[in-house]
Amino acid sequence: MKIQDKHYHTIWVKEGDNRVVQVIDQRKIPFQFEIFDIETVDEACFAISEMVVRGAPLIGVTAAFGMYLAVLNFDETDLKTYIVRNAEKLKTTRPTAVNLDFAVDEISNFILKNKSSNILSELVLEKVEALKMQEVINSEKIGEYGLTLIEEIYARTKQTVNILTHCNAGWLACIDWGTATAPIYKAHLKGIPVHVWVDETRPRNQGARLTAFELGEQGVPHTIIPDNTGGHLMQHEMVDLVIVGSDRTTANGDVANKIGTYLKALAAADNNIPFYVALPSSTFDFTMSDGIREIPIEQRNAAEVAEMEGIANGKIQTVQIIPRKSPVANYGFDVTPARLVTGLITERGICKANKEGILELFPNN
Ligand code: MRU
Repeated sequence: MKIQDKHYHTIWVKEGDNRVVQVIDQRKIPFQFEIFDIETVDEACFAISEMVVRGAPLIGVTAAFGMYLAVLNFDETDLKTYIVRNAEKLKTTRPTAVNLDFAVDEISNFILKNKSSNILSELVLEKVEALKMQEVINSEKIGEYGLTLIEEIYARTKQTVNILTHCNAGWLACIDWGTATAPIYKAHLKGIPVHVWVDETRPRNQGARLTAFELGEQGVPHTIIPDNTGGHLMQHEMVDLVIVGSDRTTANGDVANKIGTYLKALAAADNNIPFYVALPSSTFDFTMSDGIREIPIEQRNAAEVAEMEGIANGKIQTVQIIPRKSPVANYGFDVTPARLVTGLITERGICKANKEGILELFPNN
């Protein structure tokens, strides 16, 4: 997708220096556009845990590049022990997005299978690039399948299709296209009038900062709303469709996504509004079947709630917004039970959020 009319992916190998991986620094958007360099596995861990990069698919791909950097910087005697240690380090950076485990396992297995090659790092880079490009293909496919939902609504209403989304499940959370936003971009490109209600998504404001920024850059009409507004809009028929992303979806269709997603699903169910979850196969966790009990929910630091970041006098600044002594709870994600999900939009098509529906599209799991 584009920033100031230039096409970007969110992560790439530096031109002319394949020892450096570069990412868009998402801590600075929308105030500044900066590139962040990653040269070691520890820097990849930092980028993921500090949310220089975030969003399930991008977390996974960054970790995959982290494993590549680990191979490049290998200076011990036992490759297997070294790989297992670094894989574990990467996997513990953020617990909820299963894409992280998926990508690290894929690359670790590949490294160990090819460990005697004298061009190992080149092979690993090729593999990581392929994994990255697969995510791009998957996002675009999600866009094509999701487009049919928007087309159906437009054919019926002949009016601007109003879509509500939460957090940033956009191209910044992926490599390109996004998951929840991919159908929106496809519809916009096709000339279907769409308008997006963007939940601000406290505490880190991924909606207000990132989703609004990327929709704006692509020229997609949108409005930022405080997190509690969605229910009101739904009661007044101002939302045709909800599309969100996912950090982990179980074999029976329970969906972990950014905190607050569950409340949107409840409001959508109460108002008979379709609630879809867009996700690539790397976000399924087929080992789990009870999302509420089994999915690990990340708790982040209190400062994210106690403080707010913005720009003043051309400088990014942080201010305290709560009483200094009040305790804070900062759960990063919640689980929306499958019964509240109208359907899952995947790279293989749209299915019901239940075991049978998912198995029809992904029979080998
Ligand atoms: O904490 P974040 O910003 O990594 O959370 C991101 C989300 O919850 C997204 O909705 C999810 O990763 C889907 S991304 C395509």
